[in-house]
Amino acid sequence: MSTDVLSEHILKEILGNRPFQYYLQVGSTNDLARRWALDGAMPGSVVIADEQLEGRGRLGRHWQTPSRQAVAMSIILRPVIGSGHLQRVAALGSVAVAEALTLFVPREIISLKWPNDVLMDGRKVSGILTEALWDGMQLTGIILGIGINVRVDFSATPLADVATSIEDHAPAMVQRHLLVRHVLERVDIWQARINQPLLLATWREWLSTLGHSVTITTQHGVVSGTAQDVDEDGALLVSSPDGRIHRVLVGDVSL
Ligand code: BTN
Repeated sequence: MSTDVLSEHILKEILGNRPFQYYLQVGSTNDLARRWALDGAMPGSVVIADEQLEGRGRLGRHWQTPSRQAVAMSIILRPVIGSGHLQRVAALGSVAVAEALTLFVPREIISLKWPNDVLMDGRKVSGILTEALWDGMQLTGIILGIGINVRVDFSATPLADVATSIEDHAPAMVQRHLLVRHVLERVDIWQARINQPLLLATWREWLSTLGHSVTITTQHGVVSGTAQDVDEDGALLVSSPDGRIHRVLVGDVSL
């Protein structure tokens, strides 16, 4: 029978020279990564935890990372991008996770919901939270926080209809160190292409939101219509029945 052990020792073997910090329990890996980045961590350095007590999601939400059931990781990136293109980091994170997940489940059941939820059979398996570091007007780094449900049981919870775990869909036990390695490999590849049109093209291919009727809750109100496309900045372009195109940069989509 296979087992799933995530430990400093295994991560050292699998991550080679990549600087990493591993913790059994943290508040939020994004907070530790931010501190490490401010102390000068190299790009690609990663903080990984078995359990988060104060995991943070988008739009101020809580994110669960129960011990031994999930992956919580925060990667320190130092991309050279325009300030209008920050959303690309989240896009590359969600594309990287989607690609890494194809090693465990069929590609057909994986999709992305704008802006960066990773879905399996239409339910959320992974979320991305990016946080930028600034020195005045200068972008000095971005923390790419990734949470992936591996075997969290949502069945008796209010999230049963909207959340899922990889092992609900995979034929075998998922070894989290392999998942971490594959995600990091894909992040490395895409962060080197952050300014290339291929990233946006690949993001579009994974986005199941495009072509569908959506209702989006934004800070400025609710936008309803058909999701047509994403633009260079990662904004969602929604056409409303009166023919107007709405450009939404931050929001929460329901289909
Ligand atoms: C979301 O979909 O709302 C984003 C969830 C992001 C969760 C990850 S887990 C690792 C990192 N640390 C955090 O506190 N949050 C992110």
